Amino acid sequence: MSELLDKAREYESKKEKTIAEELRPLFHLIPRCGWMNDPNGFSFYNGKYHMFYQYNPYKTEWGPMHWGHAVSEDLLTWDYLPAAIAPDEEYDTDGCFSGSAIEMEDGKQMLVYTGVRREEDEDGNWHDIQTQCIAFGDGKDYVKYKNNPVIKSESLPEGAGKYDFRDPKIWKENGMYHIVVGNKTADGDGQILQYSSEDGINWNYEKVVIKNNNRFGAMWECPDYFNLDGKQVLMASPQDMLPEELEFHNGNGTICVIGTLGKEGIFSEENCQAIDYGIDFYAPQTILTKDGRRIMIGWLQNWDTCGIRRDDFPWFGQMSFPREIAIRAGRLLQKPISEIVNYYGKRISRKSVLITDSCSLSSIEGRCVDMTVKVKSTGANLSYKKFEIKFADNGKAYSKIAFNPEESIVKIDRKHSGSRRAVVHQRRCRVSDNKGEITLRLILDRYSMELFINDGEQVMSMGIYTDIRAEGISFKAFGELLMDVTMHELKR
Ligand code: FRU
Repeated sequence: MSELLDKAREYESKKEKTIAEELRPLFHLIPRCGWMNDPNGFSFYNGKYHMFYQYNPYKTEWGPMHWGHAVSEDLLTWDYLPAAIAPDEEYDTDGCFSGSAIEMEDGKQMLVYTGVRREEDEDGNWHDIQTQCIAFGDGKDYVKYKNNPVIKSESLPEGAGKYDFRDPKIWKENGMYHIVVGNKTADGDGQILQYSSEDGINWNYEKVVIKNNNRFGAMWECPDYFNLDGKQVLMASPQDMLPEELEFHNGNGTICVIGTLGKEGIFSEENCQAIDYGIDFYAPQTILTKDGRRIMIGWLQNWDTCGIRRDDFPWFGQMSFPREIAIRAGRLLQKPISEIVNYYGKRISRKSVLITDSCSLSSIEGRCVDMTVKVKSTGANLSYKKFEIKFADNGKAYSKIAFNPEESIVKIDRKHSGSRRAVVHQRRCRVSDNKGEITLRLILDRYSMELFINDGEQVMSMGIYTDIRAEGISFKAFGELLMDVTMHELKR
């Protein structure tokens, strides 16, 4: 083992013990200590789910990228394993960037990642040279392949840039390994490249899967590519997006391109939508479980909002709640994985509550809850102008969800959550017009809120770093409405 990896493993095992349990969410994976970004190597191996992540154990800031590692039997409770890889080779000395994992024929697990090395060009400018590298292991210890990198800049097609070439996502099909990799062309546009290999070691360039053509941001990071419900789906996380109505927003975003695979594997696009309509969601990866579910986990964070943080926390960055995804009527549907029911505590349910102003209901409170709220007008016409749910409320700090049935817009709002930074605190999303009827399912897990609207037609996620004792939940109608609410306390 290299000195760097040894040092990281020793550091994290000591540091971890100083982190109080209540500082960690119950089900959302956070780094063992320090900083976490993208999910990496999300896979099933040797009877367990594995999640690796972009990791700087030493600080709560982005830094020398290692891969952190955790395993789980149900995707909800995680056990940490020692850091898997460190930036300890010449070709990855500036970082082991994002990638994926797969089980090989010989039973080993292979990690495929991007090695980064800074180089000075003829004009004295420094650039990251990004290449694709592999490592083999037993689910805990990994050895980098001696002839890394396995895909170098020389294997890039014409027009592809060598400075932004990263985040390989691997799968196996008909006996061949394939990866999709994000790339920025020399003239600044995003594209996704596909490579294939018989053995995982010798790779050949196949094709450009999709070109951005300057539609959604510039570089497309962290691609994933899979078949789902008869459609072919390409997910990616573009940088430098421009806003489009309420669909896409400025900065880093996520897109889901839904299409079909035609002759000779040509991907033809049919629809493109945001994956998450909230504030904090990026770089998702999916797996196909043994029972045939496609499950997605993203980084519950956004590069542009990293300013909302708790300086007193020994960690930064968390993963989203795992979501089972499907394609219905050409659109992405998401729901929290069903394993959540195994962690249900007390259940409170109230039917047809008439709400005419602000109200709280006895025992409906908490920071770890799965709560579904259905509202509708009291008669045939719209009987209310707005409906609000306040949560993580201590009378001073709170966060909010608001639904405007006339405009069919849902807003999430953490402006009063205790943040002292001028970053994005609110986001709006257009939902289907059901004449004042809407279903809102909130997953609250200490430092996050994920809102599944109308059975997962849209999801809006955000981190909230309000004092954990802020547990209040209340409802408010502007006008009158009828509400059904079912809340399950979540506990381990
Ligand atoms: C996306 C990303 C990846 C890269 C990694 C570096 O969030 O920028 O493209 O591999 O983070 O930590």
